[in-house]
Amino acid sequence: MKLKIAVLPGDGIGPEITRQSVKVLKAVAERFKHEFIFEEAPVGAVAIDIDGNPLPEYTLDLCKSSDAVLFGAIGHPKFDNDPEAKVRPEQGLLRLRKELGLFANIRPVKAYEKLKDLSPLRPELISGADMVIYRELTGGIYFGEKSTSEDGRSATDVCTYHVEEIERVAHLAFKAAQLRSKKLTLVDKANILETSRLWRKTVTALGKEYPDVALDFLFIDNAAMQMIQYPKQFDVILTENMFGDILSDEASVIGGSIGLLASASVGEKYALFEPIHGSFPQATGKGIANPVASVLSAAMLLEHFGLTEEAEVIKDAVEVSLHLEVCTQDINHVHNYNTEKVGDFLEEIIIEAENINLNNENLSFGQMTII
Ligand code: IPM
Ligand code: MN
Repeated sequence: MKLKIAVLPGDGIGPEITRQSVKVLKAVAERFKHEFIFEEAPVGAVAIDIDGNPLPEYTLDLCKSSDAVLFGAIGHPKFDNDPEAKVRPEQGLLRLRKELGLFANIRPVKAYEKLKDLSPLRPELISGADMVIYRELTGGIYFGEKSTSEDGRSATDVCTYHVEEIERVAHLAFKAAQLRSKKLTLVDKANILETSRLWRKTVTALGKEYPDVALDFLFIDNAAMQMIQYPKQFDVILTENMFGDILSDEASVIGGSIGLLASASVGEKYALFEPIHGSFPQATGKGIANPVASVLSAAMLLEHFGLTEEAEVIKDAVEVSLHLEVCTQDINHVHNYNTEKVGDFLEEIIIEAENINLNNENLSFGQMTII
């Protein structure tokens, strides 16, 4: 298959982790005889520095003329600590999501058996947890009208949802539930918010088209508690933009590190793949950032194009790296590897996979030339 992939490394650790997923995608292309063409463009704080614009037009054009976007991370402390800043890196990502119509953000969360002691949650609580969060991505309070009063003493963010915006992401979530454990939980705040009541009404009505899916509801405050109290109860979670942002960061605790969580943002026409973590400015350039979230986002990219076997090869390689503890310091506290080495290891496993028995429990470090 021939794919043109726009690479937007962005800020902070974005470039170093994205480099690893490009490496991994090239390894997949080599092994499966695909042709992946990569083209890079700036976004976020780096784009503001070059261009004064967090999403330059040429970056947007590149995304629109590509089959998919591989996104790194966005954000810089110099903007976070300046409430007066007129342009912010995050605006680049929000505009990109809007311009590309990426209305659904899909965030799978699972507890890796090997890492279950890493989570601050008790291993027996998280063992076997496996869910996917469908977060609405182009509506709600993120995109509502924003204003600050003239005297600067009050500010407003409006949250609006239309039935169509709810329906299109809900359809995807119901369909995902049909292919999984057939359970869908809508997370909202319907006891308080009018928008949440519209979500409940709309999703309940839509549920009639998916009689095989059990639909239930949780208020966001309760869901936040249940997420760490009994995460195994969740299969597919559907929620609005802001609740999904918060809940998915919380859910990352289950996996043991936010550095493992990938995501896909999809719309009618375009698709973008990005780790759920941010730009981790303190780690920039130190080689300590975990590339796995970005690498697994690349696997989601392949799945999006029906390249399931290729995606599985990446996921297997990640499992092997976790198994052998060829991991960055967030996971391997003692004998850790740097970002680049983890990427090299994954690359090698992918290229050599046919010659290595990946199910071999005795797989040892010595078999890999890379370590
Ligand atoms: C995410 C991030 C973004 C968001 C920021 C960087 C705009 O936190 O993708 O979860 O809030 O959506
Ligand atoms: Mn977030």
